[in-house]
Amino acid sequence: MSTIERRLSTSVLVIGTGGSGLRASIELAEAGVDVLAVGKRPKSDAHTSLAAGGINAALATMDAEDSWQQHAADTLKESYLLANPHTVQIVTEGAARGIADLERYGMPFAREDDGRISQRFFGAHTYRRTAFAGDYTGLEIQRTLINRAAQLDIPILDSVYITRILVRDNVVFGAYGFDLDDGTRYLIHADAVILAAGGHNRIWRRTSSRRDENTGDSFRLAVEAGARLRDPELVQFHPSGIIEPENAAGTLISEAARGEGGILRNALGERFMAKYDPERMELSTRDRVALACYTEIKEGRGTPNGGVWLDVSHLPRETIMTRLPRVYQTMLELQMLDITKDPIEIAPTAHYSMGGVWVRSDDHGTDVDGLYAIGEASSGLHGANRLGGNSLIELLVFGRIVGQAAAAYSAGLDAQRRSPEAVARARAEIDALLAADGEENVRALQRAIRDTMTEHAGVVRDEEGLLAGLAELDAIEARMADIGVHPDVAGYQDLAHAFDLRSAALAARATLQAALERRETRGAHNRSDYPELDPALQVNLVWSSGSDAPAGVDVSTRGGTVSREAIPEIPAEIAALIREVSVAGKLVE
Ligand code: FUM
Repeated sequence: MSTIERRLSTSVLVIGTGGSGLRASIELAEAGVDVLAVGKRPKSDAHTSLAAGGINAALATMDAEDSWQQHAADTLKESYLLANPHTVQIVTEGAARGIADLERYGMPFAREDDGRISQRFFGAHTYRRTAFAGDYTGLEIQRTLINRAAQLDIPILDSVYITRILVRDNVVFGAYGFDLDDGTRYLIHADAVILAAGGHNRIWRRTSSRRDENTGDSFRLAVEAGARLRDPELVQFHPSGIIEPENAAGTLISEAARGEGGILRNALGERFMAKYDPERMELSTRDRVALACYTEIKEGRGTPNGGVWLDVSHLPRETIMTRLPRVYQTMLELQMLDITKDPIEIAPTAHYSMGGVWVRSDDHGTDVDGLYAIGEASSGLHGANRLGGNSLIELLVFGRIVGQAAAAYSAGLDAQRRSPEAVARARAEIDALLAADGEENVRALQRAIRDTMTEHAGVVRDEEGLLAGLAELDAIEARMADIGVHPDVAGYQDLAHAFDLRSAALAARATLQAALERRETRGAHNRSDYPELDPALQVNLVWSSGSDAPAGVDVSTRGGTVSREAIPEIPAEIAALIREVSVAGKLVE
């Protein structure tokens, strides 16, 4: 068993090598700042590469009336007024610059014959403002950022799992981790740390994330460093995840399928969106479409496998091949289904953490000095319902801003104090897990958490279920005291799974507790016992671990508290563009 420890130091450490981590690293490297990026999976296969349908910016290439103000108004409206208006303004106003940065790095956007960037409709946008590269947009963005990072010689460690952010007196001084292949430990000293390690949607059973992605790492790392979470209960269920095969259940069928004209039908052949949103139909908001699919299935109008049909077979073959090539390939590969001929069986899938680590709206700094969070790890842009295509633009805009903020923070330090005790705790924690030889299986416990969240914190929730979920979580956490961890010649994945399990438990507790406190129905958060939107709950819910243990001590089993945070007012010029938010037809159980 490896006990070798490598020591590295850098000005800014970036945890996560998806789009947001790479974009921040590029900003730092372009400014000549020393940066190191680490990720737990190959950068070419980071989760961003799965993002499909597009990236939003009011470029007005297709609809001249579009403006960043209208993009901001749509984002705020569809967040059910839980998004932070300042964050929204930063992203929507900065979006064109984000796209220009990508073009500068060589991004191959789809274009019209005259060279304009093409833009398609995505759900609940007033205008066509989603730029794309087929339905491989995230993959192309990831490739583009990797190429730019290579040009800048940015050091990237692809197989390092970070277990702790190192903190002394609420100030960051680095991170600790290990190599997934050979177990080598890493002690990385850094002036500032940018957390870009995704969200927590893998803690549901049907999810658009793969096995070791979005397991809640960012939440645990931040909370154990002394930060808080905002709105962990606000999780986006995408309407269209596949149902079979079981080991790929939840794999995304991009919203681009509906954007290009795909139709939803129940098992009776009815185009059911006419009941839920007759105006916008399949291009209604994601929360409405997901709830509509859920309701059709729950009320017995679903397919025998528990799904509904998404049909693109009426579209011209060329549209499918050029605009939906990934959906075409995915369905052939996973089900041997030809979508030019047959409909796709789909059901809602956990897709995106709209809440995340509590950050300031202007620079995404957290409660801990020198610690920043970015992308799906962060919070503030999406509120109770994210507009499709807003996550990719967020990482471009805030990647740049947070890179600059971390650089300025590092440059402003005149000294840094470290803590040998914090490092010793990080080492001891890995030693203890490697010595653990209990009877409980880590993967089985991960599965138990996913079952609990699926059963009690899915598309529709209620108090009884959420309390039952918390009781189940208590029992699972008790079993976690007796796990066995067994790395083998193939690598240290089992150790990573043990940390993922802790992350999942913490993320699950925060989600269940905040969901309990949000006694209303708003956006993706449907409470069957509180079916109305409550104006008094037009606030963000902030979750703290409730632990008074020093930063760096495991807090996953210690409860938590939820408090309310007021949301700033919407600037008048944007408010004027917001149409009324209706909840009619929301909860139709
Ligand atoms: O459906 C999609 O292509 C997903 C896009 C998004 O989540 O932004």
